[in-house]
Amino acid sequence: MASIRFLGHSAFELDINKKKILIDPFITGNPQAVCKPRDLSPDYIVVTHGHSDHLGDAIDIAIKNKATIIAPFELAMYCGNKGAKTHAMHIGGSYPFDFGVIKFTNALHGSTIIQEENFIPAGNPVGVLIEASGKTIYHAGDTGLFGDMELIGDRYNIDLALLPIGGNFTMDIEDASYATKLLKPKVVIPMHYNTFPVIEADPNEFAARISSSIRVVILNPGEEFEF
Ligand code: NI
Ligand code: MN
Repeated sequence: MASIRFLGHSAFELDINKKKILIDPFITGNPQAVCKPRDLSPDYIVVTHGHSDHLGDAIDIAIKNKATIIAPFELAMYCGNKGAKTHAMHIGGSYPFDFGVIKFTNALHGSTIIQEENFIPAGNPVGVLIEASGKTIYHAGDTGLFGDMELIGDRYNIDLALLPIGGNFTMDIEDASYATKLLKPKVVIPMHYNTFPVIEADPNEFAARISSSIRVVILNPGEEFEF
């Protein structure tokens, strides 16, 4: 058994193989946040790209818990320079951690870290595949729809896909439902919507577009799903 808790926006806490893996822990400044960064005690933190709504509190939480940040190379270097323990990877490479295997995928997006007037390049944005405890989880990060989602769906039997549906910065409902068709997951959970007015979307409208062979699970921030 594994469980995943939605922390709002694109942030999730995955509990698998007795390890806690945070993904894109945007807590401070997240209007949907249901906890404080100090409430989280992960073993690993996966960060898909450098935007503040994904990098979020990753560095502080990592330092406090001696957790390892798993991120694309340039972003991992940035986090390492800030004092976090890191494991750098890149698109297409996989690595067997003590809880399971992680592989980064393509994502159509940006990754620059923006701090007031400073723009710090953080390499490519990624999606992440996690294979652990007999389950395969795909967190798409921020991305537009792309054809290689079909390749990912053919290459992996995805148990759980976490897909952005909010539009403007990422796929909208229509594109995310098309992505679901390409990825063929058993379960899909929508994310990256309703955090801000510009990404308002109705997850029930997304669910209505998904074929009945795929289960749509809509989580409110703080809710958890076992699989
Ligand atoms: Ni982004
Ligand atoms: Mn985002």
